[in-house]
Amino acid sequence: MKAGILGTGHYVPEKVLTNFDMEKIVDTNDEWIRTRTGIEERRIAADQEETSDLALEAAKVSLEEAGVKGEELDLILVATVTPDQSFPTVSCKLQEALGATNAAAMDVSAACAGFMYGVITAKQFIETGAYKHILIVGAEKLSKITDWEDRNTCVLFGDGAGAAVMGPVSEDRGVLSFELGADGSGGPHLAQTGDFIHMNGREVFKFAVRQMPESSVYVAEKAGYAKEDVDYLIPHQANIRIMDAARQRLGISEDKMAVNVNKYGNTSAASIPIALSEGVKNGKIKDDDLIVLVGFGGGLTWGAVALKWGK
Ligand code: ACO
Repeated sequence: MKAGILGTGHYVPEKVLTNFDMEKIVDTNDEWIRTRTGIEERRIAADQEETSDLALEAAKVSLEEAGVKGEELDLILVATVTPDQSFPTVSCKLQEALGATNAAAMDVSAACAGFMYGVITAKQFIETGAYKHILIVGAEKLSKITDWEDRNTCVLFGDGAGAAVMGPVSEDRGVLSFELGADGSGGPHLAQTGDFIHMNGREVFKFAVRQMPESSVYVAEKAGYAKEDVDYLIPHQANIRIMDAARQRLGISEDKMAVNVNKYGNTSAASIPIALSEGVKNGKIKDDDLIVLVGFGGGLTWGAVALKWGK
């Protein structure tokens, strides 16, 4: 049995905060942010808008696209480092809101690699035949753990949610290979200490610029393809320079990589599923395309999959 993606969805809050808006908040400028990161603007959730609200909107779209009803779900996994509260989990809130009366539910905490951990967990349940339909959502309200006085971090993050429904697909499609990893010794480089995110940007950059290209090539080759065969690369959207390093290592052209970091900044666990959903909706992703999803994040953690698109 092969596990693949049956439907995708995404949702971002309405409020846009541009780099020029950031200039009024901290000592920074549009040129610095754009050239170092590729970010031009980000979305910020309203005060009363919680992570579960963003997650629910994305989840509904993905279920609709998949043609799967809430009560047909067996498991809900929500990847987030910004749950509404530690419990009840965001996944349990979705379970109720979606009428997913037959689903188990848990949150997955692996920072920006969380969606990858969710997809790879879901794949195991589907391939063993234990579960048929699994909803995986990456959702973050990073604005609530952002120190709006720290220019090193506050310019980088944004809020949003992306979702995918996974289930059985035909033998020649679905997830072909994966990699998951963690290195707790690098934990202090990217951590929530007290109320806010703290980051040693240079150390995270060095880790990411090595790990993302390595993992991308690894999953493509483990799936039995040459790295240049990748039709569409969906990297975690943290920094365009890190993303380009992965793309260049694969040896693929710019139009074969999903980019939305310019519009949304780094939305942590939401960034990959948002980009995936956009790729489906704008026609970049087509049946039988070889897709690589790759993420890295706090922990440190990383994860990647190679998959053949389609049911
Ligand atoms: N505006 C203007 N200047 C700034 C800003 C800002 N917003 N932020 C930092 N600077 C200054 C610094 O203080 C430093 O000044 P100094 O030389 O006088 O000390 C100068 O700019 C250069 O800083 P560098 O750290 O050298 O800049 P760099 O080119 O490394 O870019 C960045 C910094 C963008 C943070 C980069 O290191 C990076 O992208 N790292 C990875 C971050 C990342 O991916 N995080 C997400 C991980 S996953 C997750 O978060 C959940």
